[in-house]
Amino acid sequence: MVVRIFENRRAVSQACATLIAAQVIRKPESVLGLATGSSPVGTYQQLIEWYQQGLLDFSQCISFNLDEYIGLDESNPCSYHAFMKEELFNHINMKSFFLPNGNAKNLGVECRRYDKAIAAAGGVDLQLLGIGRNGHIGFNEPDSHFVKGTQVVSLTQSTIEANRRYFDSEDQVPKKAISMGIGTIMSAKEIILIAMGEDKADAIYKAVKGKISPDMPASSLALHPHVTFLVDQAAASRL
Ligand code: PGA
Repeated sequence: MVVRIFENRRAVSQACATLIAAQVIRKPESVLGLATGSSPVGTYQQLIEWYQQGLLDFSQCISFNLDEYIGLDESNPCSYHAFMKEELFNHINMKSFFLPNGNAKNLGVECRRYDKAIAAAGGVDLQLLGIGRNGHIGFNEPDSHFVKGTQVVSLTQSTIEANRRYFDSEDQVPKKAISMGIGTIMSAKEIILIAMGEDKADAIYKAVKGKISPDMPASSLALHPHVTFLVDQAAASRL
């Protein structure tokens, strides 16, 4: 695992966008794994800027997002579909993008379909991850075991509280989501995890220096052969 520490949030975003841009330039038909949350927003803004300047072309790229809430319509501004359109897809020429369907009639079938779709696309070349304060990646919350494939997950109180800022009230935050499993994430050829701010320092410390345990889902990344953590000084403050 490589850990790179940057002065601030903006520098992390720049570095992350640079690595994604390099991937897309090297392999125009890349399969990207993308993430929601506040962490990747600066990265997406930089990618949009480079696209608008004619420096990047996503016309052969496809993407799979990590997760989606269960029960929110895609058009709901709080859905991850809507988030990704607003923050990235409306502004670039991505060939196609996919998120799990949190309104599927049969969620178990949808989970299996999503993993099959990723595999049929040749697997994810580069997976972008944020990290929760509790160490979650995607919506893989601390658990007694590592989950292999895409699955339905119940959000922990810590995650519900962290995501409450996007909703009018805590009651409106969905309690369940579909998330790529740890196995799905680990099958990506390369992984970049970004973290900014002091409230991530504990999770970063445990993910980098702690033991590998499903209590700390991000610790599983230590077993991946090609993973890079890009963190700011605040998130690195306990390393
Ligand atoms: P954040 O969320 O980027 O909004 O902090 C990250 C995550 O929960 O994975």
